[in-house]
Amino acid sequence: MCGIVGYVGARQAQDVVVDGLRRLEYRGYDSAGIALVADGRMASDKPAGKLANLEKALEESPLPPSHTGIGHTRWATHGAPNDANAHPHLGGGKRLAIVHNGIIENFAELRTELETAGHTLLSETDTEVAAHLVERELDGGADLTTAMQAVCRRLAGAFTLVAVDARAPDLVVAARRNSPLVVGLGEGENFLGSDVAAFIEYTREALELGQDQVVTISRDEVTVTGFDGVPAEGTQYHVDWDLSAAEKDGHDWFMRKEIHEQPSAVADSLLGRRAADGQLQLDEVRLSDQDLREIDKVIIIACGTSFYAGLVAKYAIEHWTRMPCEVELSSEFRYRDPILTQSTLVVAISQSGETADTLQAIRHARVQRSKVLAICNTNGSTIPRESDAVIYTHAGPEIGVASTKGFLTQLVACYLLGLYLAQIKGTRFGDEINEVMDQLDQIPDQIQSVLDREEEIYAIAGQQVGAKSVLFLGRHAGYPVALEGALKLKELAYIHAEGFAAGELKHGPIALIEEGLPVLCVVPPRGRDQLHAKMLSGIQEVRARGAHTICLAEENDDTITPYADVLIRLPQVPTLLQPLVATVPLQLFACELATQMGHDVDQPRNLAKSVTVE
Ligand code: G6P
Repeated sequence: MCGIVGYVGARQAQDVVVDGLRRLEYRGYDSAGIALVADGRMASDKPAGKLANLEKALEESPLPPSHTGIGHTRWATHGAPNDANAHPHLGGGKRLAIVHNGIIENFAELRTELETAGHTLLSETDTEVAAHLVERELDGGADLTTAMQAVCRRLAGAFTLVAVDARAPDLVVAARRNSPLVVGLGEGENFLGSDVAAFIEYTREALELGQDQVVTISRDEVTVTGFDGVPAEGTQYHVDWDLSAAEKDGHDWFMRKEIHEQPSAVADSLLGRRAADGQLQLDEVRLSDQDLREIDKVIIIACGTSFYAGLVAKYAIEHWTRMPCEVELSSEFRYRDPILTQSTLVVAISQSGETADTLQAIRHARVQRSKVLAICNTNGSTIPRESDAVIYTHAGPEIGVASTKGFLTQLVACYLLGLYLAQIKGTRFGDEINEVMDQLDQIPDQIQSVLDREEEIYAIAGQQVGAKSVLFLGRHAGYPVALEGALKLKELAYIHAEGFAAGELKHGPIALIEEGLPVLCVVPPRGRDQLHAKMLSGIQEVRARGAHTICLAEENDDTITPYADVLIRLPQVPTLLQPLVATVPLQLFACELATQMGHDVDQPRNLAKSVTVE
């Protein structure tokens, strides 16, 4: 949600800023803009629409050469996505330009204060208020850093702000509270970005900032302070992926590339988890064995696809540890007064590590003195930083808005956590844990075997162009897979899609079945006879009422053949691990259907990769 770039150095700032915005496009946006400091003046442009509009505008009316600039892709919160509301916003004297991600909650009163003092604001945004406030400080004699600190002290809510002052040609100043911002450290140049993708082309050295901090970058210096002006320090780290990871590598979409990266992403997330003595080890879990032994309840909190990973985890964690495990949407959790104690382990699942609702939920849990463990894919992001422990997934950067390899690697991390807790609490024998680990080790090849048959799935997807509604059915661990399959289709193809627990069919969903309605059915492995038989009767019931059944069932399962209009074969894996292979055809199905319908798969309408406002 909103991409932010800042640059100061020897290169042409316009090129660096536009490149950075392009790499942040995946975050989701509806307008793009740039401001450059040139010859003591502010030059800017900010047309509504995609980045291509900005590039066209810059071609038609070029901005002057400059070595200091900021840029922004905006996902509208306050005010429609039009030119006036696009960022950067300028102060009334056009001396100061600012971009912003987040929501300034007290903006209405600040706006009234400014208007009463004679300021004219040109947009409906909360951001323009910050522009006028910072410029007023500058006009009063403050330098850009001090002005930013003073204004931030007055702001409530969540924000990343990045500003340039026409009279300070070699500085960019930024601030963050509850919203992402990283510094890229170069040689004779420095960068700012919502995430490292913004500057990965130029440097892999980054600086992570803390809460309520202001950073000032010049060509050769980076200085960090608190909002109170007290000097502070960021944490430097090396980014372990490079530009090629942020390119499409011959695929039409990042999403399709990321689906194909799943065998290696899963393998990487499993790497190094078994010690020489066969014991499971999770290095980054900073909680002691004693802490973990005392845990008597797990609560998983997450949003979107990550929430569905949590739903799968519940089956595994309860089965292996015999501990209750609740799963809740972060946005609901915080506002319902959940029962949390010191012996509750709260597990926050977040690919980006920046989702605002999940962040607020873990803060709430920590205030209640529960222990928080993050499952996250993004080094240096806020959620792991504010957690007691973290299991990093090793999916590499996920650019497609709809999560794919992020989801599969979250599942792996959840399985590892469940097994680790079982090992520590002694609820499973070592050889049982080893057996599951051996099964997990085979998963990358099994995912590959699904990918090898992608053309079959594309053909099945092609037959559904024009479908008005698609249902997904599953049971047990296949139920969250059905939910995830439906979510993918909604997100990408904009088709009405619902996932149901097959056991609930007769309590309502079956009324939706009509002639030809496509129903994708995730059939459990045959090993679980009860589950399998019940799923089969559900499929027969919908088929008897005219549904077109597309069944995902394991290789040797012939019992399904009479009831499947279309069959997608899955490799044989245990029920609890089946989501790791069963989700893949549903991702391919949604990706292809959306492609054939002419949609932008990587940047679906209205969606953002990382939802950084509540
Ligand atoms: C957005 C994304 C989803 C993602 C969800 C949670 O809605 O579009 O793909 O699953 O946020 O994000 P997180 O980064 O916390 O996993």
